[in-house]
Amino acid sequence: MNEIIFATNNKHKIEEMIAITSGKIHLLSLKDIGCVDDIPETSDTIEGNAHLKAKYIHDRFKMDCFADDTGLEVESLGGAPGVYSARYAGENATYQDNVIKLLHDLEGKQNRTARFKTVIAFISGSESKYFEGIIEGKIIEKPRGDSGFGYDPVFVPKGYDQTFAEMSPDLKNTISHRALASRSLTNYLLNKIK
Ligand code: IMP
Repeated sequence: MNEIIFATNNKHKIEEMIAITSGKIHLLSLKDIGCVDDIPETSDTIEGNAHLKAKYIHDRFKMDCFADDTGLEVESLGGAPGVYSARYAGENATYQDNVIKLLHDLEGKQNRTARFKTVIAFISGSESKYFEGIIEGKIIEKPRGDSGFGYDPVFVPKGYDQTFAEMSPDLKNTISHRALASRSLTNYLLNKIK
């Protein structure tokens, strides 16, 4: 099968994506193609940012390419941090800074319902397609677990007791927002090459 660029350098995402696609797709990261550009993420929607990243790489490397963008949407915060999840506590915020701000903003709120939403934009030639994955859950009051990244220590998916950061990577990779979106993309690609 042809090589496809996954427009990211986040090693957690690449590991997750390799696990989800079970080696059925030959993925190249930005590092593999020697791209060190700071790709703009200036859209105010998750879909828009996924498309911007995929298009930036597709225009320059002329290869099939996909990019993802994810946001944590918290109901009682009107959907925040949403598209701003990576920089919720400021431009150079760490994962921990963002978690601390989130817990602070939720202090005293009864409704802690939240969901992760991933959108993958895939571009091949003149075709653009979108694949979405959503997992519902809630934000707990104190971080638990050391695995994963981002908001994992405070997110408990619906139907589970463990946070994403307490789960085995295998379980997270089976049920996560990114897993759902990635599985849709994988099914689409495998059908396309049949
Ligand atoms: P990105 O668009 O995938 O880079 O995600 C934006 C931000 O959402 C990241 O910086 C993380 O803080 C958060 N995020 C994305 N995916 C996950 C996840 O699987 N678990 C926890 N946080 C995540």
